[in-house]
Amino acid sequence: MTEHWTPASWRNKPAKHVPTDYPDLAEVAKVEQVLRGMPPLVFAGEARRLKSLLGDVAEGRAFLLQGGDCAESFKEFHADNIRDTFRLILQMAVVLTFAGGKPVVKVGRMAGQFAKPRSSPVETVNGVELPSYRGDIINGMEFDEASRRPDPQRLLQAYGQSAATLNLLRAFAGGGYADLYNIHRWTLGFVADSPQGAKYRELSEKISEALTFMAAIGVTPESQPDLHRVEFFTSHEALLLGFEEAMTRVDSTSGEWYDTSAHLVWIGERTRQLDGAHIEFFRGIKNPIGVKCGPTMEPDDLLRLIDVLNPKNEPGRLTLYGRFGHDKIAERLPRLLQATKKSGRSVVWAIDPMHGNTLTAANGYKTRPFDRILSEVKSFVQIAEAEGVHPGGVHLEMTGQNVTECLGGARALSEGDLADRYHTHCDPRLNGEQALELAFLVAEKLKEERLEAALRAAI
Ligand code: TRP
Ligand code: MN
Repeated sequence: MTEHWTPASWRNKPAKHVPTDYPDLAEVAKVEQVLRGMPPLVFAGEARRLKSLLGDVAEGRAFLLQGGDCAESFKEFHADNIRDTFRLILQMAVVLTFAGGKPVVKVGRMAGQFAKPRSSPVETVNGVELPSYRGDIINGMEFDEASRRPDPQRLLQAYGQSAATLNLLRAFAGGGYADLYNIHRWTLGFVADSPQGAKYRELSEKISEALTFMAAIGVTPESQPDLHRVEFFTSHEALLLGFEEAMTRVDSTSGEWYDTSAHLVWIGERTRQLDGAHIEFFRGIKNPIGVKCGPTMEPDDLLRLIDVLNPKNEPGRLTLYGRFGHDKIAERLPRLLQATKKSGRSVVWAIDPMHGNTLTAANGYKTRPFDRILSEVKSFVQIAEAEGVHPGGVHLEMTGQNVTECLGGARALSEGDLADRYHTHCDPRLNGEQALELAFLVAEKLKEERLEAALRAAI
């Protein structure tokens, strides 16, 4: 891997899950050329800022909260959806900051999460076989031939939607919506009258009291503008490399290459082959990046990947997301944690408790039991602490909408409930109430570990 890197050098490597069946390849090239002329969505300095915050996470001083849709869609593109997911992240961040006693780095799986790797390239319904749906940036979800044909114009629509989403997120993050004094106003309507809603109100009372006290001693939004706003970052799986290449630009302040489609981009479990196109692309960009680590990942594979992706051992450059499944994590995670620790590799270890816990319900719905999601997160915190590694964060598929896609939670959603509001374009997401419940339970776990660590330090 010492060959010369360019934003296009991935094209000489095998590229899994990147479509090659566009009817008109010249049109794809034309669209990519148009994209190259479009403004970047993020600025390199922001990506560096996130890298430095993730460096704090790598060193145990902060916690990463990353979440959003499995797949964003053109159809569900609406200001209310963006706001609802954003405020859910704020609520969860409050809960986690309060319990963990550490800053929470807030990253949306938003404003660009459009391309999906699929387990099968084709889908068969009632004897009719068509190409699988691959995310709105590639083709359409409707089961007909025209929709399933890859259409390069979708790249431009995805760019436009990402730009508008990011614009609104920036406005919310800096324009007053995220002001800590608004803490009571973030409760989602349908969560308000749930046990989670009550718990959240109790916590926001405590924080409001603290704010009043602080204001009395002179700590006000005027003296502390950070009370008023949050730093919010975007991320997605950089799967569709033609799009990512077109968004990759030289940063004029450092002369280095950044993928300006998002602050953080990650490599999926299905495209992390060492000699593949995705690793080739990622090794050359300077953004903070992530890699999903599933149950087949061996310590040696991981160390080789790290050598290529983070040769300078830069803290914050690399986030590893375990996604093993509640029943496999105890066997698979410890050896990976030991490998990175023993070899002195600086990484953020986070958990994706969604993708290893998917099953198909008897009525055909793809779903995830809340208990298993929670169990994988709890195991993650426990195992990491036992190995002397900071349990750095969580990566969730969730939405502020009142969907019925994951089983269980405080309202004990059953298989029969799934049909009510099953809206996802890909994998089942936690709804607002389930996500907040998870945040409270993780918070308890983090607090326990924090108190135990303080106790150990005292004796
Ligand atoms: N800026 C601080 C932070 O992000 C405090 C803060 C302001 C905050 N608004 C918030 C924290 C909303 C959590 C949620 O930590
Ligand atoms: Mn998914």
